[in-house]
Amino acid sequence: MQTFAIANQKGGVGKTTTAVNLAAGLARSYKKVLLIDMDPQGNATTASAFDKNELPNSILEVLMNEVSIEDAIQKCESGKYDILPANGELTSAEVELLNELMREQRLKHALMRVDGDYDFVIIDCPPSLNMLTLNALVAADGVIIPVQCEFFALEGLSALVQTIKKVEQVANKYLHIEGIVMTMYDSRTTLTIDVSKQLTQHFGDIVYKTSIPRNIRLAEAPSHGLAIFDYDKDSKGAISYMGLAAEVIRRAKTNK
Ligand SMILES: Nc1ncnc2c1ncn2[C@@H]1O[C@H](COP(=O)(O)OP(=O)(O)OP(=O)(O)O)[C@@H](O)[C@H]1O
Ligand SMILES: [Mg+2]
Repeated sequence: MQTFAIANQKGGVGKTTTAVNLAAGLARSYKKVLLIDMDPQGNATTASAFDKNELPNSILEVLMNEVSIEDAIQKCESGKYDILPANGELTSAEVELLNELMREQRLKHALMRVDGDYDFVIIDCPPSLNMLTLNALVAADGVIIPVQCEFFALEGLSALVQTIKKVEQVANKYLHIEGIVMTMYDSRTTLTIDVSKQLTQHFGDIVYKTSIPRNIRLAEAPSHGLAIFDYDKDSKGAISYMGLAAEVIRRAKTNK
């Protein structure tokens, strides 16, 4: 089982879109996948066709040790992956975990119970470096960072890289940046090309060869509760996320 956190504290860079469609892409490649919604916005939950307000159990109860992870996991019809859903109640986790022992290890310990059930676990992180993101980083083998190719794209990256290094030193010695994926890529703009050049200069081969173009179908699919492969399998968005899934599988194999 390989666990990847999809993280970037910058908002709206394509974390959830990447988490959902990478999970679906891996599942289409015959991998067993668990998608974890670690964001109180619950966007990955909605995109997987679940009603956020009607969840019997969610990631919150798992983090609070109130239910076992197996009892909170659901099956996503369209994406063919399992999902551990979230909703707004997850905002209380920060405060509720405050006085708990080993509060940053909760997700890691929960995942140990399903080790062996999945090939890949994909964690959709919230847009901040808080206790929820920390739980994801402690539980993960690697971090996949989506970067939107725009001005300021690189600004927050050093804070994220520092956080990953700190977690590596104190809580998870195998943690590394698994890959960087460029999202909402528009090869016609010089800004996109500049940012993409800077990323490759700085991070080299860590940057995935596959970039995700700006594609309206990717933005539409979640409101139908469908993975891009069911919504429009011939769209550029679908083709690129399938390419990313293949690259993630290849890289995960070489890292083993
Ligand atoms: N490749 C793309 N092409 C077009 N629209 C996209 C693409 N990727 C994401 N979007 C849209 O951009 C918005 C932000 O994307 P998304 O929700 O995936 O980002 P996020 O990083 O998860 O945001 P947050 O930080 O709020 O969690 C959404 O409306 C989404 O549909
Ligand atoms: Mg999101």
